[in-house]
Amino acid sequence: MNILVINGPNLNLLGERDQEIYGDNTLDELMMWLETSPEGSNHNFKFYQSNHEGVIIDSIHDERQWAQGMIINAGALSHYSYSIRDAISSAKIPTVEVHLSDIMNREDFRKISVLKDVCVNQVYGMGKQSYIEGLRILNGNQ
Ligand code: DQA
Repeated sequence: MNILVINGPNLNLLGERDQEIYGDNTLDELMMWLETSPEGSNHNFKFYQSNHEGVIIDSIHDERQWAQGMIINAGALSHYSYSIRDAISSAKIPTVEVHLSDIMNREDFRKISVLKDVCVNQVYGMGKQSYIEGLRILNGNQ
């Protein structure tokens, strides 16, 4: 499967940002780990990270023919970006929304995801394992 992995705002700071919440891996380490995991074998990956909503939307548009599955951690944009929601539903790529942290047990604004309803599933609170779980869901969704 061709899998698009998108990481949104502030996730470029993984490894130095709130380590007690997000762990100590850098984003590059985490994406390499995902790509080389047993669940990642036999898949082709493309990785994007941006701090800008429009760039994330452009990436989804640009890869909509190539991607057969998408894992997205849109960071805080998950909680309010109707534009990213529309991009996901327009691109029709089976998508899993993932979060490293337990968004249900943090500030109230994080409990709401405007992306959830247009994704095949949502995974949160498993640290970097959330991404593997996202892959498992896409594998099962084929
Ligand atoms: C996050 C959770 C979001 O609420 C936060 O804004 C992030 C990271 C997570 O992976 O736990 O940037 O998406």
